[in-house]
Amino acid sequence: MCGIVGYTGYREAYPILIKGLHRLEYRGYDSAGVALLDESDNSLSIYKAKGKVSGLESIADSRPHSGCIGIAHTRWATHGLPTENNAHPHQSENGRLTIVHNGIIENYAVLREQLKSKGYHFRSETDTEVLVQLIQYTVDTTGEDVATSVRLALGKVIGAYAIVVIDRDNPDTIIAARKSSPMVIGIGEGNCEFFIASDASPIAEYTTKMVYLSDGQIALCRRGEELQVLTLDNDLVKVKVRNVKLDLNMLDKGGYPHFMLKEIHEQPSCLRDCMRGRIVEDGKRVVLSAITEHREELLNARRIVVVSCGTSWHAGLIGKQLIEQYCRIPVEVAYASEFRYSDPVIDDKDIVVAISQSGETADTLAAIQLASERGALVYGVVNAVGSSIARNSDTGTYIHVGPEIGVASTKAFTGQVTVLAMMALAIGREKGTIGDEEYENLIAELLSIPEKMEKVLSQDGRIRQIAEKFRDKHNALYLGRGINYPVALEGALKLKEISYLHAEGYPAAEMKHGPIALVDEEMPVVFLATHYGLYEKVISNMQEVIARKGRILAIVTEGDETVRNMVEDVIEVPQVHSSLAPLLTVLPLQMLAYHVAVSKGLDVDQPRNLAKSVTVE
Ligand code: G6P
Repeated sequence: MCGIVGYTGYREAYPILIKGLHRLEYRGYDSAGVALLDESDNSLSIYKAKGKVSGLESIADSRPHSGCIGIAHTRWATHGLPTENNAHPHQSENGRLTIVHNGIIENYAVLREQLKSKGYHFRSETDTEVLVQLIQYTVDTTGEDVATSVRLALGKVIGAYAIVVIDRDNPDTIIAARKSSPMVIGIGEGNCEFFIASDASPIAEYTTKMVYLSDGQIALCRRGEELQVLTLDNDLVKVKVRNVKLDLNMLDKGGYPHFMLKEIHEQPSCLRDCMRGRIVEDGKRVVLSAITEHREELLNARRIVVVSCGTSWHAGLIGKQLIEQYCRIPVEVAYASEFRYSDPVIDDKDIVVAISQSGETADTLAAIQLASERGALVYGVVNAVGSSIARNSDTGTYIHVGPEIGVASTKAFTGQVTVLAMMALAIGREKGTIGDEEYENLIAELLSIPEKMEKVLSQDGRIRQIAEKFRDKHNALYLGRGINYPVALEGALKLKEISYLHAEGYPAAEMKHGPIALVDEEMPVVFLATHYGLYEKVISNMQEVIARKGRILAIVTEGDETVRNMVEDVIEVPQVHSSLAPLLTVLPLQMLAYHVAVSKGLDVDQPRNLAKSVTVE
């Protein structure tokens, strides 16, 4: 949460910073701000605006904004309301230091009181202002330079941070530091300019040479000099430069009105990318290098524990069913936020699978750090290449669906399920727990998914019409069984996230133990009723809803006349192996949520209160 961009070099910083903020806006969009240092007259311009980056632009565009060094921020509020006053950048009282920050300083209240007692005054309610004042206080009292003072001040801080600091008295240097919040530094032309950001997306068009800071590191980015990285204990760190390339087309809407719609429609091609090079030998074999390399640990695993949050947690529930069925290894799926504080019984016979689109979710990161400490092998299923969770995993499989920008996750979910299905097949094959015929059949079915997805996506117009029926409702129920139960949870989450309708996902049979009390003619009920497994039982659950006048939308298998004759609306999905049904049944639910939100005039890509990358716990 919160996006940071910084630049020091020979170009005008402002356009780089604004473009970068737009790229990072998915991380938070309560307010935005920019600080520019013009070394020609040593003037500092700071502009801030409540709301989105476009609001900031409309203010700053018409005011002086020159300077080749600058920092900028888009905020997801933690301490203090999303006001202009609380927006970053924040300054030390004497105006020498300016900071932007992502994270939470947990002991900020104590530090603030200490600084107040020493005569410092505060203009905002933020923990960030406390931090910049603490650094200034350290400069004032120790006489050290700013870089050393940042290091000393951070030693007093409890919490998570990624910070970027500029110093009016040294107008060519940016100081960056991180602990538990991501930060990447791009090394630009001639190794003389630096781009600093929360992720690689604002940097990718200028350079592919990137340095990911690790926890407890401070970087001194001095224009015209080599990048210097130190630990909090002042030890010099050998800088590891990675070559990171991003497909810049993925960072644009590509003609769609929203990133979410683009990402929904990209799913067939994303899944082809995800399977490429992993389903080999003319579709006869699944090869995942992580599984080949860690064959013994995986075959002897006593248990797999999945840790994740949000949509990734729903993917984990599907992964559990696939891995248990095809590998006969017990799987537990834990919310990362609960796991990390539960003193979990875990050791070197366990495999911990961390699922994360962003690779930066603070709780998931902390969960794998704990699992590693206790000896478990950590397997990352991550989308963002080079992210913290990817780097902190022992091994893993990237989802490879390209950057996901819409806050509501869509293509990452189907990518995660595809990777988990490939993992189940590869491990099951090695263990001998899946038969040859089933193995080959499932691979063929996986390969057929993208084409079948295209068929589902072609029903967009029909789903838009159905969405009209939801727009004035206040609640909805999503019901499914077996492999479709996590899809019901995911469908309900999508509707909540972007349409602000209250929605509950439930196992269909469990409905009669409570939620049925809510069913009346005002209650839309979405049933996942594809043609296998517990189909007949789901039909009985439908009858129970119909008897209470509930309004049903059913997701069914192509050609299902039984359900069509029973309910108000149906959406058909092609026949597919039951284990892979979620890859198709989730699509209508993504589209439904999208169209309900659009018809309500809501901001689909940046829904209120949410953020794409949750880097605070
Ligand atoms: C946030 C996002 C969700 C996402 C969850 C987990 O809540 O809004 O879309 O599912 O974080 O994120 P991760 O990046 O770890 O998958």
